Amino acid sequence: MASELNRRQFARTTAAASLAALLPQGVFSNTSAGKKAVVHADDEIGVVRPEFHSHFAEHLGSCVYGGIWVGKNSPVPNVNGFRQAAVDYLKELGVPVLRWPGGCFADDHHWRDGIGPLARRPKRVNTTWGMYTEDNSFGTHEFVAFCRLIGAEPYLAANVGTGSPQEMRDWMEYCNYPSGSTLADERAANGSPEPFRVRYWGVGNELWGCGGNLSPEQAAAAYRQFATFARAFGGLRPYLVGCGPSGNDARWTRGFFDTLAGRNLPSGYSMHYYSNGTMPPLEFTPEAAYTQFNSFPRVEQAVASQRTLLDGYDPGRRIGLFLDEWGVWDRIPQSDEQRNGRLWQQSTMRSAVGAALGLNIFNRLADKLYMCNIAQMVNVLQSVLLTDGPEGKNCVRTTSYYAFLLFKPHRSKTAVRVETDGPKPADFGGRGAGGRGQQQPEPPPDLSLSASRQGSEMVLTFVNPRHDVDMQVDCALRGVSAKSGRAQILHDSDMNACNSFDNPDRIGIKPHEVAVEGQRVRIALPAMSVATVTLQVA
Ligand code: AHR
Repeated sequence: MASELNRRQFARTTAAASLAALLPQGVFSNTSAGKKAVVHADDEIGVVRPEFHSHFAEHLGSCVYGGIWVGKNSPVPNVNGFRQAAVDYLKELGVPVLRWPGGCFADDHHWRDGIGPLARRPKRVNTTWGMYTEDNSFGTHEFVAFCRLIGAEPYLAANVGTGSPQEMRDWMEYCNYPSGSTLADERAANGSPEPFRVRYWGVGNELWGCGGNLSPEQAAAAYRQFATFARAFGGLRPYLVGCGPSGNDARWTRGFFDTLAGRNLPSGYSMHYYSNGTMPPLEFTPEAAYTQFNSFPRVEQAVASQRTLLDGYDPGRRIGLFLDEWGVWDRIPQSDEQRNGRLWQQSTMRSAVGAALGLNIFNRLADKLYMCNIAQMVNVLQSVLLTDGPEGKNCVRTTSYYAFLLFKPHRSKTAVRVETDGPKPADFGGRGAGGRGQQQPEPPPDLSLSASRQGSEMVLTFVNPRHDVDMQVDCALRGVSAKSGRAQILHDSDMNACNSFDNPDRIGIKPHEVAVEGQRVRIALPAMSVATVTLQVA
């Protein structure tokens, strides 16, 4: 059936002219375009799980060491060794789940190295991320304590690549068995008599690559063997996450589940999809930004088609689909890495738009996803916080931090169907696993929208990913009428603008004008902006 937007003819220019009046003088310097959208309040998709806004932290660059963890004797203000500013900012943001210790690092990490008195912890070489000496001062106890401090649920990635089923099973017992076994008593002797009660367990990471270069059949066989010994220590049934594909690799998923043949199915299944960028973070051209933005419709298609594949093996949808690693991965200048650590990447207004495009997708796919973890929490890739190197006292909230904050009101609400009049995910062709190496010219990105509702509150998030078009959005509400509304916006007309250590608050959330009249919401979106509208509806 044709969509409501296709059926109707819109008077775009009239709408654009009247909406421009909503913006302060001087905001518009670009082409102005009228955009139409429809929110179908009664067409429910599914609950926006808070877990869609989860994070990932790896022993990589200055994410853990120098980012989250500075040590108890550091001159950097800290709470028991954890960077105070990071704790405060992350608490304010709210981190539902935190995945650790990798990433690729997980398959070369042995949990026993990171417990007990510091002086006795062995020093290893981080062979994955730079061959530096890993002193294991941040181990299981520190990770769980950090999760408790910021209110996150811990998610441990177990080692399949260089580990064993026994190692994973013992880690579970150490974490979750209350007392009386040697491992549980060892945990207590190490300062934690209460079990950690860790529910989420990843069984290997990227087993198709850094986790061992396995075939999907080998990965499934490894999964089955590891899962056999994963027990409900302390009565807590572990939620085991099997290793899924890079991007939309159907061959991997079929090989994995055909091999499992309906037995020992995982609770969760993890795919990774990065949105690669061809330019250094501060030097993006509009063309490079659009190429990166256009990977998001492919993420949307990838999640939908992986879910369809899973449904073939699991018609009752008991297996949760995880987007375990996602976000923008730019061309990182060597000088930034040398100064601040591997994969240290500045977040710009363009990155925030990328984050919002992703978070809008998760809302629209609320029935298909279980958890999504942005890569990574601090100082690595699309981080929400940046510090100036491992010793740095400064800690800034990036543009991506604010993009996540704008989506917080959606949590636990029910996502509802929306329509916009731009290109659809199918128009992007779904080329390439992992979104890497796209060549052909593509349509420019367009207005992105998602909506959710709980009782009398409805939340809409609009994204204008164009650098040269200010959008006048005329949004129709179907099934509800709005009594009042308020809006907040994240915007900078310079897509390469960022929050730096010299100017940490350049870009932040500001109040914004919105016109609300019953079943009509009108908002002006300057080029490169993300806006969240909170409506009171009946
Ligand atoms: O997030 C950085 C790396 O990207 C992770 O270690 C790995 O899982 C992925 O390839």
